[in-house]
Amino acid sequence: MPDVNSMDQNQLKKAVARAAIAHIPHDCIVGVGTGSTANYFIDELAAIKGRIEGAVASSEASAARLKRAGIRVFDLNVVSEVPVYVDGADEIDRQLHMIKGGGGALTREKIVAAVAQKFVCIADATKLKDVLGAFPLPVEVIPMARSHVGRELLRLGGRPALRQGFTTDNGNLILDVHGLSIADPVGLESAIDQIVGVVTNGLFARRGADVLLLGAPDGVQTIVR
Ligand code: 5RP
Repeated sequence: MPDVNSMDQNQLKKAVARAAIAHIPHDCIVGVGTGSTANYFIDELAAIKGRIEGAVASSEASAARLKRAGIRVFDLNVVSEVPVYVDGADEIDRQLHMIKGGGGALTREKIVAAVAQKFVCIADATKLKDVLGAFPLPVEVIPMARSHVGRELLRLGGRPALRQGFTTDNGNLILDVHGLSIADPVGLESAIDQIVGVVTNGLFARRGADVLLLGAPDGVQTIVR
């Protein structure tokens, strides 16, 4: 991994956010993710807002930022298609499987990603990993199922920790699962989804990204699945 300090990291996030604009068709409704990289993308989108119809947002925070930028925000239910979804990731591998949900927006992110025809992941080079799992895997849980889900996650080999003082946009809790080395992202995503009380987990493997725009000190690389 290249040596990237936090100031450089923000420059790389800005660079990939800018590069994502080339993937936005004219007159479309754009799916917009959540987090600091997605925020830079919203700033870039504001500059071309005249040539898009609007956006669907993966969180209340992104919806508010889009509106402040003068971009119309649509309810996903009234939208017939989302040609492209642009979002960051906490970790991504070369098969373009991801861990997401560091910002707690994983469920809405997964919903918008499921509707989108193309998922463009924008990430700085620190996010690219050979094996996913060093970043604790977020799992959104119905509050009354917290202990049950925690026990089941222990059985799967993880160490779940309740994200303190945090409630998702959907009124649920997040368990961050430490200690996983994820050899089979598709299998683990399915296994965690089978636990009663889990709303979503932060593995985006069954529906990974289609394109990764990876920001490195020597430029933005494009990796296609
Ligand atoms: C939020 C997410 C973000 O995409 C992920 O946490 C990356 O965030 P950042 O761009 O701030 O590094 O999944 O739920």
